[in-house]
Amino acid sequence: MTILVTGGAGFIGSNFIFHMMEKYPDDRIVCLDKLTYAGNLSTLASVMDRANFRFVRGDICDRETVNRLFEEEHPEIVVNFAAESHVDRSIEDPGIFLETNIMGTAVLMDACRKYGVRRFHQVSTDEVYGDLPLDRPDLLFTEQTPLHTSSPYSSSKAGADLLVMAYWRTYGLPCTISRCSNNYGPYQFPEKLIPLMIANALNDKPLPVYGEGKNVRDWLYVEDHCKAIDLIIHQGRVGEVYNIGGHNEMANIDIVRLICRELGKPESLITYVGDRKGHDLRYAIDPAKIHGELGWLPETRFADGIRKTIRWYLENRPWWEEIISGEYRNYYEKMYGNR
Ligand code: NAD
Ligand code: DAU
Repeated sequence: MTILVTGGAGFIGSNFIFHMMEKYPDDRIVCLDKLTYAGNLSTLASVMDRANFRFVRGDICDRETVNRLFEEEHPEIVVNFAAESHVDRSIEDPGIFLETNIMGTAVLMDACRKYGVRRFHQVSTDEVYGDLPLDRPDLLFTEQTPLHTSSPYSSSKAGADLLVMAYWRTYGLPCTISRCSNNYGPYQFPEKLIPLMIANALNDKPLPVYGEGKNVRDWLYVEDHCKAIDLIIHQGRVGEVYNIGGHNEMANIDIVRLICRELGKPESLITYVGDRKGHDLRYAIDPAKIHGELGWLPETRFADGIRKTIRWYLENRPWWEEIISGEYRNYYEKMYGNR
């Protein structure tokens, strides 16, 4: 079987490729990735030369490239990770988010209709549900929670989700959608909370916490997300949405304090900075459906996952040091310079 993975040079897509190649050595994986600032070919070095792996640099919005790839490879399953994924960047410049996240998804699904696939899977996010209040721990996002987005990023992901459901209903394209909570683990780009704080702490730089640091996210180790997607594409019901999350809510400030402790760095590095515009207060997933239907449960406890992640960043300094010494410096200055 041939599986097309888009966005596989990014954080979750690369971890998914490693998981799939390990578990299904007879499958062929084709990765289509534009290699934006967030894509990194060195991440895929360990699989690049395998006979059952092919990397193609290309844009999911480019219909000609996408159609040619389908003609060459005839993928049976398409898993769409490709996206602009960072909320702060979407607040600065929404256009590319609409282009890649909505139009790119449409181009991929048009190709799926034209050439035929067994499954198109859209990797979506819990952010499409908006946020929950901090003082109502009883409230969780279910698959029935209405879409109610806050940022250009989450709006573009919600737009794509609506389009996916429309292609299922209108054309009968066999689609599934997963909506996962915040991931952490190896190969996450250091613009995101956990790797940014690890990198800054290791360099004794200020740790910029937005607002009062009370916002809550529901953290899941990336491998557990990949295993859930594997289950959905093989056993999930078409036309269905599956929430993915492991009941692991934490306030941002507690994560940053924990990173300081683990690295033996002083909490005096913590610096409160201006809040994110439209900052979502709290995310919390109810994973009852994927647990009940597919038997999925998270396997990595946060205490273990965060240690593994910190160790990975310590042992793979060249990977992230190369990133933060390049164009990232301009990004950092723009986002944090006068915050
Ligand atoms: P990422 O930013 O690390 O990687 C995105 C990848 O997509 C990069 O390799 C980039 O080069 C590629 N890409 C971007 N635009 C492209 C285009 N037009 N054509 C082809 N490739 C393109 O993102 P991530 O954190 O790995 O997220 C992957 C997916 O999972 C996204 O769809 C995101 O919305 C979703 N998601 C992420 C999280 C999270 O916590 N990171 C949680 C839930 C859902
Ligand atoms: O919930 C799933 C989503 O999680 C994914 O869809 C997104 O692609 C992914 O980026 C992530 O979005 P968040 O906005 O939650 O992640 P981020 O790492 O950017 O921020 C996590 C929290 O930390 C958020 O409340 C903002 C805060 N933060 C972030 C950064 C980068 C800080 O306080 N300081 C920072 O420097």
